[in-house]
Amino acid sequence: MRCVYSSVSLLKKQTGKTPAEQRWVQRQLKDPYVKASHSQNFRCRSAFKLLEIDDRFRLLQPGFSVVDCGAAPGAWSQVAVQRVNSAGSDQDLPRGMVIGIDLLHIPPLAGAHFLPSHDVTDPATHAELQALLPSGQAHVILSDMAPNATGFRDMDHERLVSMCLSLIDLAEKVLLPGGSLLCKYWDGVLAHRLQEKLSSVFSSVRTVKPDASRKDSAERYFLARMYRGSVK
Ligand SMILES: C[S@@+](CC[C@H](N)C(=O)[O-])C[C@H]1O[C@@H](n2cnc3c(N)ncnc32)[C@H](O)[C@@H]1O
Repeated sequence: MRCVYSSVSLLKKQTGKTPAEQRWVQRQLKDPYVKASHSQNFRCRSAFKLLEIDDRFRLLQPGFSVVDCGAAPGAWSQVAVQRVNSAGSDQDLPRGMVIGIDLLHIPPLAGAHFLPSHDVTDPATHAELQALLPSGQAHVILSDMAPNATGFRDMDHERLVSMCLSLIDLAEKVLLPGGSLLCKYWDGVLAHRLQEKLSSVFSSVRTVKPDASRKDSAERYFLARMYRGSVK
């Protein structure tokens, strides 16, 4: 969970590091989104990617139920809690629900229910989600999930695409008709196949690259809207 470090702890981490690790620390110190995440109490700079996407496409509405896949350390869940009002901060608006899932521990967050040590691709996790969600259904599935990168670009791309494909199985179990799925992928040869699979069950699928996503990274998001349900 690299993203939760403060600037002071980043500076302390300079000592005894390899040149690559020192470059990473220097980049973090200069990054405006890292600075903004500290000042706005977000757990990670990734919060700004979801804020930007949601400002543009209005995915997260008060009262909505949201599943956040690969939620640790919890920055996307922080954004989702605010936008769907799941902490009940605005009593005049409907209260939503946020459920975050990760293989890792996720520090507690008011308004979110976390399932740590859970694998999003595991059918047992899907069953647990169905039991927690109101009427077993969600309006939105978010996924910023990523495997630990091996550094072999094609292999990492393939692993992330297969994780994204498993989200289509999850959607079949919990996503409301008309619902949305936002999922991260790393660009590569299989991206087109993933897009086709998404297009077979969603009426609209587009690629999004928010400004907060580093320009030099292969990171992209598919935003799939208007879920039609599975084609049997
Ligand atoms: C980039 S981080 C997510 C950051 C998060 N969106 C935030 O804003 O705090 C990717 C996460 O995906 C999780 N992950 C990877 N594979 C997973 C799986 N099969 N099931 C659940 N979580 C997974 C990792 O443990 C990691 O915490």
